[in-house]
Amino acid sequence: MTGQVIGQVIGQVSSLAIVAAMLAGCAEAPLELAEMPCPDTGTSLTYESFGRGFMTSYCDRCHSGAKSGAPSSYRFDTHDDIRKHDTRIFIRAAGPNVTMPPGPYDPPDDERDQLAEWLACGAP
Ligand code: HEC
Repeated sequence: MTGQVIGQVIGQVSSLAIVAAMLAGCAEAPLELAEMPCPDTGTSLTYESFGRGFMTSYCDRCHSGAKSGAPSSYRFDTHDDIRKHDTRIFIRAAGPNVTMPPGPYDPPDDERDQLAEWLACGAP
């Protein structure tokens, strides 16, 4: 009986620990565009050389007027569309932020870092 009670207490404590760890993971704030500096040397990335291809490869399967699947207010077909939504694109997909795309075709980390740099420099 006592052993059972102790067992239950230990079980509850360890599930609490798991819940706490999960909450800590979720509570970790995403990096924001405003917190990301453009390098002193600027960026060599442009819409033509990088931005368009990135969006076409990883986002426009859902975020395009032609092929939707995401909210219609979030279309990334043009350079202006991307600039208009830069803070939200950053928070969902740039640098350490990985909640977009929802998978399974995620960009590699180095391309997420390039996206962060390009947006931080004003998405030229
Ligand atoms: C498989 C389809 C799909 C792909 C690919 C995809 N998205 Fe999304 N996106 C969604 C859906 C569905 C929503 C609405 C639900 C949500 O916000 O999670 C959404 C919402 C968003 C939003 C609006 C919500 C907010 O947080 O402001 C942004 C911004 C966004 N996605 C960015 C991106 C970026 C950037 C990419 C490419 C790196 C991308 N998404 C790729 C389906 C997709």
